Amino acid sequence: MALERTFSILKPDATARNLTGAVNAMIEAAGLRIVAQKRILMTRDQAETFYAVHKERPFFGELVEFMTSAPVVVQVLEGENAIARNREVMGATNPADADEGTIRKTHALSLGENTVHGSDAPETAVVEIAQFFSGNEIVG
Ligand code: RTP
Ligand code: MG
Repeated sequence: MALERTFSILKPDATARNLTGAVNAMIEAAGLRIVAQKRILMTRDQAETFYAVHKERPFFGELVEFMTSAPVVVQVLEGENAIARNREVMGATNPADADEGTIRKTHALSLGENTVHGSDAPETAVVEIAQFFSGNEIVG
């Protein structure tokens, strides 16, 4: 198995409820290592670039509004199969469908306010990490 990196965001509903530590504890308990992390207020440009793949979807405007509404914590996670492992501990996009013990089942408020983001493939992980971190900010 390969050591892999994935990009993660603790979304505004997480920071607003002071859940950074609680969510990080679940990430770490899943065997993932936080090798870079910073708290930022995303600009509209950053959010629109990040979610460009969803530009034509009806929820795009709402998504960008939400992601810029309060601070987020952007992270790089490292571990064996980190991309799939993180998606597993995150749980389904809609918390109503998420398994017990997942971050979204435990903490998410709704489909929109769903607490975390995680890259969905190696190609997107590389692009997403590069949007927010330079190489020397990631210390594995
Ligand atoms: P994410 O990208 O945030 O990790 O979540 P995901 O892969 O599980 O879901 P994705 O399909 O990529 O959608 C991105 C985010 O958009 C919001 N969403 N809202 N109102 C809606 O119908 C709707 N659908 C998706 C969610 O916050 C989702 O995480
Ligand atoms: Mg996604």
